[in-house]
Amino acid sequence: MLHNLSDEEYADIDWDNLKFGLMTTDYMYMMKCTKEENFQQGQLSRYGNIELSPAAGVLNYGQGLFEGTKAYRKEDGRLLLFRPDQNAVRMKIGADRMCMPSPSVDQFVDAVKQTVLANKRWVPPAGKGSLYLRPLLIGSGPSLGLAPAPEYTFLVYASPVGNYFKEGLAPLRLYVDDEFNRASPGGTGGVKTISNYAPVLKALNRAKNRGFSDVLYLDSVNKRYVEEASACNVFIVKGNLISTPATNGTILAGVTRRSIIELACDIGYEVEERGISVEELMDADEVFCTGTAVVVAPVGSITYQDKRVDFRTGSEAVCQKLYSTLVGIQQGVIEDNKGWTVEID
Ligand SMILES: Cc1ncc(COP(=O)(O)O)c(C=O)c1O
Repeated sequence: MLHNLSDEEYADIDWDNLKFGLMTTDYMYMMKCTKEENFQQGQLSRYGNIELSPAAGVLNYGQGLFEGTKAYRKEDGRLLLFRPDQNAVRMKIGADRMCMPSPSVDQFVDAVKQTVLANKRWVPPAGKGSLYLRPLLIGSGPSLGLAPAPEYTFLVYASPVGNYFKEGLAPLRLYVDDEFNRASPGGTGGVKTISNYAPVLKALNRAKNRGFSDVLYLDSVNKRYVEEASACNVFIVKGNLISTPATNGTILAGVTRRSIIELACDIGYEVEERGISVEELMDADEVFCTGTAVVVAPVGSITYQDKRVDFRTGSEAVCQKLYSTLVGIQQGVIEDNKGWTVEID
């Protein structure tokens, strides 16, 4: 028997074997505006394909941004979001960089809440996963010449998800790629534009074909400082010091990254945001990745220029404690005295 909703009120899927993949749900949220006006009022509709002009800005010039956040079901059946305002703020910053209007923080959070409520039967039972929310902001109006699109669409869709990596919670095997760059100074690495992602597929596919879980990218100028993985931030631990690359425009300022920095300080670690050379990375006691999708994932080994180094993992690892605390707060098991969780009713 599942909590609160009766068995018939849950979507009929195998809740014990959720993966991180698209499982379409009942409803999505949509809101449009032109470039002269702000977003006004959006609405829910049945999940389905959207119609776009072949000349849409997003299709021709990659004018688009996305976000990712999750809703959890507590044991008592209540639904929680984790810091959705932070995603909203990040979308606003990204929209400014990509010359797009963006929804206000309240509009964004309200749209996410409405999408969760409309798809309530797809929020996994407590402890079995989460409902991943994907807000998208795209230039949907047509333009032949290179220019901001004349019309924009903000939409939110959802999918129930389990673990991001096929390893589950097992330690990741990362590959430091010194050939492909993810971002460069003055570029868009610091915002969540859709156009940052297809360019890393080549490096990611190559690494996966060689048995690695993900790629770690280096800075494009010196090819020496660690930036982040394909869709998550990276931390290193050495003694009592936890370090993570500073957000200087080439890495994404992760919501999870910021939360982990705070939690690590709370439990007495010294935390630094700064440049981390690949040599320092390889000399760490422990390495872990953070992100909405990956949560906090331990790194078991890193390979750089044919040299492989193994790192501490398991119950003694710092990241294990940080993972349990973060997940506890997100799922409403540990009291949230930071005001990070938002209850949906
Ligand atoms: C490139 C990149 N870095 C880091 C992250 C982690 O950010 P967050 O913790 O906000 O999910 C993501 C995912 O959103 C990402 O795509």
